[in-house]
Amino acid sequence: MTGPRKLYIKTYGCQMNVYDSERMAEAMGGQGYVQTDRPDDADMILLNTCHIREKAAEKVYSELGRYKGLKAAKPDLRIGVAGCVAQAEGEEIMRRQPMVDLVVGPQSYHRLPEMEARAGNGAKVLDTDFPEEDKFERLKGRSKAKRGPTAFLTVQEGCDKFCAFCVVPYTRGAEVSRPADRVMAEARDLVERGVREITLLGQNVNAYHGHDRGLAGLIRQLATIDGLERIRFTTSHPNDMDDDLIAAHGDCEKLMPYLHLPVQAGSDRILKRMNRQHTAESYLRVIERLRAARPDLHLSGDFIVGFPEETEEDFRATLDLIEAVEYGSAFSFKYSERPGTPAAERPQVPEDEKDDRLQRLQALLTRQQRALQDAMVGREVGVLFEKPGRQPGQMGGKSEYLHAVHVEAEGLQPGDLRKVRITDSGPNSLAGTLV
Ligand code: SAH
Ligand code: SF4
Ligand code: F3S
Repeated sequence: MTGPRKLYIKTYGCQMNVYDSERMAEAMGGQGYVQTDRPDDADMILLNTCHIREKAAEKVYSELGRYKGLKAAKPDLRIGVAGCVAQAEGEEIMRRQPMVDLVVGPQSYHRLPEMEARAGNGAKVLDTDFPEEDKFERLKGRSKAKRGPTAFLTVQEGCDKFCAFCVVPYTRGAEVSRPADRVMAEARDLVERGVREITLLGQNVNAYHGHDRGLAGLIRQLATIDGLERIRFTTSHPNDMDDDLIAAHGDCEKLMPYLHLPVQAGSDRILKRMNRQHTAESYLRVIERLRAARPDLHLSGDFIVGFPEETEEDFRATLDLIEAVEYGSAFSFKYSERPGTPAAERPQVPEDEKDDRLQRLQALLTRQQRALQDAMVGREVGVLFEKPGRQPGQMGGKSEYLHAVHVEAEGLQPGDLRKVRITDSGPNSLAGTLV
């Protein structure tokens, strides 16, 4: 007897890939596939890949290498590569790894079921188009199964900014927004299935224009949905923080006081070479206005060290900017040369310089992060509980500020939103008691 076919998906990269993997799994559900968490058990393996830095992209080839044995033992096994490496290096993947049956770019995955059927007849299939049709509308309606209290919802894709270091405008294409009514329908559906917190996603989510009042208009409309308790959004560009979006941080109760607003560097000379279209000063002014609207806002950022021609003085300007902002969390990276991007052609900073700068930057960011987290002790926060903690009787969730919080209490359920008094701050999380 044969059971349903099994699909194993491995997801790399950003939250948009997490969302895409969910949608691809649902689409393949229509072809009779159920998900498995074991590659050796699968009839189809799909890698949803990331091209942002060299290390991320290379993982794909080493991961594929690990499936050679599986494919040899089970010739019917389908192997697919999706996401941003598929888009950037589709043909090369097919050439370097002949066991790959299909390659699907991030804008064509609504065609995956049909591609899988074609690959099933022994053919190799590659689709890295940027088609006119809206892939989200071409996908089947979302499943009605109950789900956890938090969800991602992609509302915008692509990027028109062309920062000199970044592959995203090439792998994801031009900026496109989903119409507000479709987003509302999907959000209502998620809430009916148990979701209490939605994070709106886009590579440039605050450039959203599917609502006549932009992202702020969408957030205010989403806030009218009963049962939806929390709204977040990521990732934003400083130049697209308009007045209404800043105001929403002060007057929209469901919008959480946490904002990821990458700046990349603190030196205007480097920001200019990065083609960021803003200065350190204009970034700091946006933050000042945000904090005027919402004084307890926690900020998060992305930083690149060792961008081509970055001097010690430029690097110090980044440290100064970090000192001025005080981040609640942050992500930092050594600059990685990406083929086809303008910065890859410029004089590079030596690797040991990059290592040294990254260490110093991360030491400062970790100090700030820990200080802001420790300052939560004694305060009352709202916690949306998500799942049992490591110790028996413990439940874990997130505060408004996205801190992980755990509480020991009887009878708490995932999806409960409760007031918690913070009693302790550990290396990666806070502990507290129900109020
Ligand atoms: N759209 C978002 C982020 C996209 S990529 C934004 O504009 O902020 C996520 C992060 O990866 C970037 O913010 C940047 O810090 C980092 N990144 C992008 N390209 C990189 C590269 N070539 N080398 C190192 N880090 C990079
Ligand atoms: Fe990349 Fe810049 Fe676009 Fe962000 S804004 S996705 S860093 S090009
Ligand atoms: Fe990576 Fe593509 Fe996201 S390059 S960061 S998966 S948009």
